Amino acid sequence: MTRICMIGCRKGGVTKTTTTVNLAFELSKQNKKVLVIDFDGQGDTTKFYGRDDAEFYIGDALLDRKFDLKKAIYPALVKGIEQEKLHIIPGKRGDIMTKLDMDMISLPRREERLKIHLEKISTEYDFIIIDTTPGTSVLGLNAVMAATEYVFPTEFKEHSLDGVETLLEHIQDVRFIDEEEIKFLVVPSKISRTARRALSYGKEYLAGRWPDNTSKTVIWERSLFTEAEFEHEPVSALKAGHVASSYYKDLAKELINNG
Ligand SMILES: Nc1ncnc2c1ncn2[C@@H]1O[C@H](COP(=O)(O)OP(=O)(O)OP(=O)(O)O)[C@@H](O)[C@H]1O
Ligand SMILES: [Mg+2]
Repeated sequence: MTRICMIGCRKGGVTKTTTTVNLAFELSKQNKKVLVIDFDGQGDTTKFYGRDDAEFYIGDALLDRKFDLKKAIYPALVKGIEQEKLHIIPGKRGDIMTKLDMDMISLPRREERLKIHLEKISTEYDFIIIDTTPGTSVLGLNAVMAATEYVFPTEFKEHSLDGVETLLEHIQDVRFIDEEEIKFLVVPSKISRTARRALSYGKEYLAGRWPDNTSKTVIWERSLFTEAEFEHEPVSALKAGHVASSYYKDLAKELINNG
């Protein structure tokens, strides 16, 4: 069965997009067929995968029941090469996504439109990964409703962890289910090895709160991620031998084994 993962956190800048781009790439390298959907109004994921000039975007499908979703699916470009096992439905930057969100408010089944569209194509993929924004929106609700599981990247900071708590509560409300019924993985991300207070705070919080839902993989803070962002590439495409290239490879393995 296709696993639909929403990457989310109510806090901004906690590495949702970095997680989406790198995790999806590593899953595809581990022979999984992956579709990424960019729901973030900044269009960062779309830019990473070289599709910011694409003709169609996710809004075309969400606004039009009859739109053939396949028309908005493009192979991701990594180092300029079209990826056979990694596809993307692009987002658009700025006002277009805000307008899309507003236009969707008045549509029937406004929270389920993504879910319904995905039912038509999902069997073609092992994983569908949705990058989201920190805020609340109709788009965000669509991601929550379509997802079969959730990945919450978080820094070891009070506000990031609050961002996970708030989103978890929201998912329970929207889906009318309890926390125990939600499949989710909290991923410590952009963790500094030298920030001792944050390290002990984060470790204790996760061990106390989600001992069974915290990833074993830790995504450590590394400047290679900033470089990769400048180059619009996943880290392992930029420097395969670098230690930071193993983080998302490990996370992808963990996610696959968590199936
Ligand atoms: N492991 C890491 N080490 C160092 N820097 C990182 C790491 N992961 C991500 N970053 C950097 O942190 C910044 C924020 O990451 P990212 O854009 O993925 O966050 P986000 O949660 O998607 O943000 P937003 O809420 O704005 O969508 C980026 O500049 C990114 O390059
Ligand atoms: Mg982002």
